[in-house]
Amino acid sequence: MKFLITAGPTREPIDPVRYLTNRSSGRMGYALAGAARHDGHEVLLISGPTTLDVPPGVDFIPVETAQQMYDAVRDMLRGVDVAILCAAVADYRPVACAEQKIKKHTDKLVLELERTPDILGSMRSVFGFSGKLIGFAAETQNVVEYGRDKLVRKQCDMVVANDVSQPGIGFDSRENAVVLIYPDREEYLEKDSKERIAMQIIEHATILPS
Ligand code: CTP
Repeated sequence: MKFLITAGPTREPIDPVRYLTNRSSGRMGYALAGAARHDGHEVLLISGPTTLDVPPGVDFIPVETAQQMYDAVRDMLRGVDVAILCAAVADYRPVACAEQKIKKHTDKLVLELERTPDILGSMRSVFGFSGKLIGFAAETQNVVEYGRDKLVRKQCDMVVANDVSQPGIGFDSRENAVVLIYPDREEYLEKDSKERIAMQIIEHATILPS
């Protein structure tokens, strides 16, 4: 099978030396790419900036902004069987990027932000993607309810949801505990290394019903 996986944060420039970003190490997405490759699949990883090494045998497109990630995903969908959108995409970006470094002339500074394109939300409706679609949901409350809402709104086959308010899992840590949300049920994967959680997610992804 051919997998497309997004990972890491995006960076939205404010001026030549500053940017807005999300907390994300990229570990979950890179672990998914490594697990899928290990299982013999063809894997394309599209990632924002991280400090991680690309797993051996995985095709790689580095991006910085949400717009670049959107463009790369749209352009690379041909032949993809399973898309797993794991990236922590910035939801807003500065309306304009200052050409020169912003100097601290004033006590307060207001940044005007606009929405970035919703990659997951565009997969079916804009890109016409008809393969298996897996989204991620990082929530701080009502994890299953919000995750299920995302599954329906973005026409996913599965949403991997985690409670990022729990210490020691998710964002910057090496471990995760997630719930797989299907249209008709949920399945809990207990706290484990991101590598072992990734192997389980890939197994579930390959047997999604058509
Ligand atoms: N995502 C994306 N493009 C964006 C923002 C998010 O592809 N511009 C993807 C992430 O990779 C992840 C999922 O969408 O798979 C996270 O969804 P999120 O944006 O949190 O969902 P919403 O329900 O739209 O947002 P909110 O949590 O604010 O309700």
